[in-house]
Amino acid sequence: MRTDDRSIVPDSTTVAAVVLAAGLSTRMGQFKPLLPLGGAPMVARGVESIQSVGGIGPVVVVTGHQSERVRSALADLDVRFAYNEAYEQGEMLSSVQAGVRALPTDAGAFVLALGDQPVVKPSTIRLLADTWRRTGALIVAPTYEGRRGHPIVFSSRCIPELLALHSNQTLKALLDRDPNEIAQVPVDDPAVRVDIDTPQDYECVLRVWQRRSQRREAMEAIMDHPDQGKPDSTRSGLSRRGFLKGAGVSAASTVLLDGTLAGIAEAQAKAGEPRVTGPGAVALTLRLHRKAPRVEAEPRATLAQVLRDELDLTGTKVVCDRGACSACTVFLDGTPVCSCMTLAIDVGRRQVKTIEGLADGEELHPVQAAFIEHDALQCGFCTPGMLMSCAGLLERNSNPTFGDVRNAVRGNLCRCGTYPKVFDATLAAAKAMAHKKGA
Ligand code: FES
Ligand code: FES
Repeated sequence: MRTDDRSIVPDSTTVAAVVLAAGLSTRMGQFKPLLPLGGAPMVARGVESIQSVGGIGPVVVVTGHQSERVRSALADLDVRFAYNEAYEQGEMLSSVQAGVRALPTDAGAFVLALGDQPVVKPSTIRLLADTWRRTGALIVAPTYEGRRGHPIVFSSRCIPELLALHSNQTLKALLDRDPNEIAQVPVDDPAVRVDIDTPQDYECVLRVWQRRSQRREAMEAIMDHPDQGKPDSTRSGLSRRGFLKGAGVSAASTVLLDGTLAGIAEAQAKAGEPRVTGPGAVALTLRLHRKAPRVEAEPRATLAQVLRDELDLTGTKVVCDRGACSACTVFLDGTPVCSCMTLAIDVGRRQVKTIEGLADGEELHPVQAAFIEHDALQCGFCTPGMLMSCAGLLERNSNPTFGDVRNAVRGNLCRCGTYPKVFDATLAAAKAMAHKKGA
């Protein structure tokens, strides 16, 4: 099948792969995909591991940070490249979407592998791909000791939904779906739970790699000497002692290797477990109007409280304090939300914009100017929230109908009854913005 329409799901058992190597490696302090592992860059080890399985391809490597260096590090491997322009934002979703767009349209599924998981066993990858071929499940994910890990196989049926995810969402939106649609495959491979995020993780993985190499060499020595069972005197080459030594190294290495990986997996799982914070104040850094103010707030503090009480941004009004009036509307990553219903601690890295940031310097936002021109306020208490809802509408829809405007402010309560003028002002602002764009 040759089509670029991703909504058409191919009837194919072809499994491709997407390997993520675009991020900034902030926690590591060095660029992870190019860290050496057994004489080759880590990302190359990950690709080799996938390709050693056989029957998986093509492999698309997503680059971003240090793109050219990654490309030249993989020059000898048969891979395709995709570039994530948004790599600096550090969100995995944009890399996944870039990789998926570069997949052949006839792939029935793809393995999503992290560039910092070079020691996942090829047998694990094969098991996941085979499980997908056998079951046709929407998603096939490995679990180790009951916890889900990577790599994950996604059916191409996921692709339209995956590409439609907004930048403020994560892959969890797909992974948290009905458990019946996800095949969880228990694997005896702790590496599926291990990311190499810190120099300490890297040290451990280096040790694992060394032991794995020792084990491989020992096994090769055994395979090279099929006369191992004969009396020592009748054999040439490897002695009984040598054979036992080799087998011992192999068995011990397996135990040590899995033990080391399991240790990292457990430590990372613990680090990922919910942390108890509070009840005292905790330090928060908000991303607000191109600044990053630090505040101390109790975990129970709402965003509205922090904006008004800690940052003195009192343009955001609190009226009902229970999500019923929208007077407290602000933007989180461009989406209007009730700040009285959002805990400040949950804002994370999302960009906050309040009514104080709506104007562009001295120039009012067209909606603000139109509200003044159309006299769309009386007491003004609902007005900041009303303005944010209307501005949010015009961000999403540059040519709204009367019904669109009415829907956009249906949660904004105005006790003074300014609605007709709010509708007129918003429609006029839309026209003004279109005119300015066309000018
Ligand atoms: S004050 Fe937040 S919805 Fe009313
Ligand atoms: S202008 Fe008074 S509540 Fe809306």
